[in-house]
Amino acid sequence: MIVGSIKEDLTLEKRVSITPETAKNIIGLGLKVCIEKNYASHLGLEDNEYENVGVEIKASSSKVLDSSDLIVKVNCPLENEIINLKENTILIGMLNPAKNKDLISKIMIKKIKTFSLELLPRITRAQSMDVLSSQSNLAGYRAVVESVAEFEKAVPMMMTAAGTVPAAKILVIGAGVAGLQAIATAKRLGAIVSATDVRAASKEQVESLGGKFLTVEQSENMETKGGYAKEASDDYKKKQAELMKDALKKNDIVICTALIPGKPAPRILTEDLVKLMKPGSIIFDLAAEQGGNSAFCEAGKINTVDGIKVIGVKSLMNRLPLTASSLYAKNLFSFIRNLYSKEKKDFNINLEDEIIEKSLIKET
Ligand code: NAI
Repeated sequence: MIVGSIKEDLTLEKRVSITPETAKNIIGLGLKVCIEKNYASHLGLEDNEYENVGVEIKASSSKVLDSSDLIVKVNCPLENEIINLKENTILIGMLNPAKNKDLISKIMIKKIKTFSLELLPRITRAQSMDVLSSQSNLAGYRAVVESVAEFEKAVPMMMTAAGTVPAAKILVIGAGVAGLQAIATAKRLGAIVSATDVRAASKEQVESLGGKFLTVEQSENMETKGGYAKEASDDYKKKQAELMKDALKKNDIVICTALIPGKPAPRILTEDLVKLMKPGSIIFDLAAEQGGNSAFCEAGKINTVDGIKVIGVKSLMNRLPLTASSLYAKNLFSFIRNLYSKEKKDFNINLEDEIIEKSLIKET
């Protein structure tokens, strides 16, 4: 059985799905690995590093697709790649089925067993495969690093002979995986950190990282059974806006991370709220590609309003593609290990396994 991977469209995606380390691990399961020539050379990972662990290098993407039983990708295959996908093979990636319905239905016509890792259940056994967590964690870290680079003041408090520099104040909206890492990173840089979330459980997590939790008073806990957020009621939104009024006047940097699965990002910061910030402040909106938590946010742009920079981030993982690839490839390896039966020497699509059942796309 051969696991293959082709280059992503480098204008959009710099991550790769197989690193030399995970290629070695996949081969260790008893599988073969093949990749396209210069697969990861843009990351400084040359073909010979892959060859050294037993990977076969093919001259073109079509040769890889033609000889593989299982294809791993970062993003959903494009039209020209789908044409070359072999029938009855397996495809695994972060395929974003809600957004890529047309592409996925073209893949399904070819009877390809298609797994999208964003659909994995958030259960303990699936943690090592959890791409949303591995990539969100990095996004939270990078959001703070990028915001601080745009901020024209120092972040930590500094007591110098020339006088004292006050610590910057950073507010994190949404304390899921990305938000918690943003809090941890901001604390490490010496900022005074506060955070808010609709899920009551996040209060303890924020406090354990040294952040102050801003509670929307007398409000219901908006957590679903699956641990995700529900859409906030109008009453909640009103109370949250009141809480934000005060917070925005005080904070220098706001990191927005709030998401609701399957829905557009909640709009939390209205135009009036944004304008309460001081000139020179930064809003870094990680939810930009889902519509943004903040007014004036546009994916891929920095909009300056009254001296406040609203950064709408796009493809943030392309700013740390080596680390993101390393974690993504490890997530993929864990998924393949669970899918492959060493006894049968074949992939075992066991629908009684919750991990396999939930991540398999059944229809578009
Ligand atoms: P997410 O990326 O879907 O959303 C980010 C955060 O935004 C969430 O904490 C959410 O509550 C918050 N949010 C949504 N609407 C908001 C609003 N109007 N105002 C303020 N905050 C708002 O969330 P993520 O990071 O994927 O985490 C979701 C859940 O999954 C959490 O409960 C987390 O603990 C859990 N989880 C479980 C894992 C496991 O393997 N057991 C692994 C990772 C996460």
